[in-house]
Amino acid sequence: MLGSDGLEQAQSKKNVFSRERQLQQPTLDLPPSFKPDVRNQSDGLIFLQSLQATSFPLCIFDPQYRGVLDRQKYGNEGQRQKDRARLEQMDDELIGHFITAIDRVLIGSGHLLLWLDKYHLCTGVSSWIGSTDLEIVDLIVWNKMRIGMGYRTRRTSEYLLVLQKKPLRAKGVWKAHDIPDVWNEKLAQRGGHAKPVGLQSRLIDCLTNPGDMVIDPAAGTYSVLEACKATDRHFLGCDLQG
Ligand SMILES: C[S@@+](CC[C@H](N)C(=O)[O-])C[C@H]1O[C@@H](n2cnc3c(N)ncnc32)[C@H](O)[C@@H]1O
Repeated sequence: MLGSDGLEQAQSKKNVFSRERQLQQPTLDLPPSFKPDVRNQSDGLIFLQSLQATSFPLCIFDPQYRGVLDRQKYGNEGQRQKDRARLEQMDDELIGHFITAIDRVLIGSGHLLLWLDKYHLCTGVSSWIGSTDLEIVDLIVWNKMRIGMGYRTRRTSEYLLVLQKKPLRAKGVWKAHDIPDVWNEKLAQRGGHAKPVGLQSRLIDCLTNPGDMVIDPAAGTYSVLEACKATDRHFLGCDLQG
């Protein structure tokens, strides 16, 4: 039997999980050169630098990694990989600059969802986040349910790192408690680097309020814009390719 102290403790432990979001997005003053809910053609760093500080609850960032293909000496890239290789690549230093700029524009307890390749999952991201207020709070594996290429094993998954800007808290911020950390979603044929709209929609719904604005500084096929439309959120983002 729990005494009244034990009962209180058990209840307060239970309350760590909340289905309410208490975090609000502040009123925004948007830069005139970037329009919400459309594709904007721009360098993502210029975009981020134009945004007011401490203003956005959520950024989804999917860098154009090249390193893993170079490092593993893939010689047998198919046409799709050749198309990817033609996209502007980001080196580690540039990705670090993006993440520092994202940290500046997130509100306290806001989130960065960072798509990672296997190489960076294994080698770590500490050099990108060391001088920021961001900390890793979770990891989701996306099972693409489609067998891909690989020099040794064949790739079927990608990784989504969940980072939160300090102060770290889940209660009143993370409101869905049924999202599995291995997410199965097969894409209909889209761009080779498109990310799953279903997973991104669930996370946007969990980490923002209806009407909030989500940012993406390297939007590619604009899967985050699609996820924002599906969840009644606003989108602000760009890509070098438009
Ligand atoms: C992996 S893709 C993003 C895919 C996207 N998440 C989706 O679901 O379609 C990375 C994108 O970064 C873009 N990119 C590369 N360097 C950039 C930069 N400096 N500023 C903005 N976009 C950039 C590339 O053009 C590419 O479309």
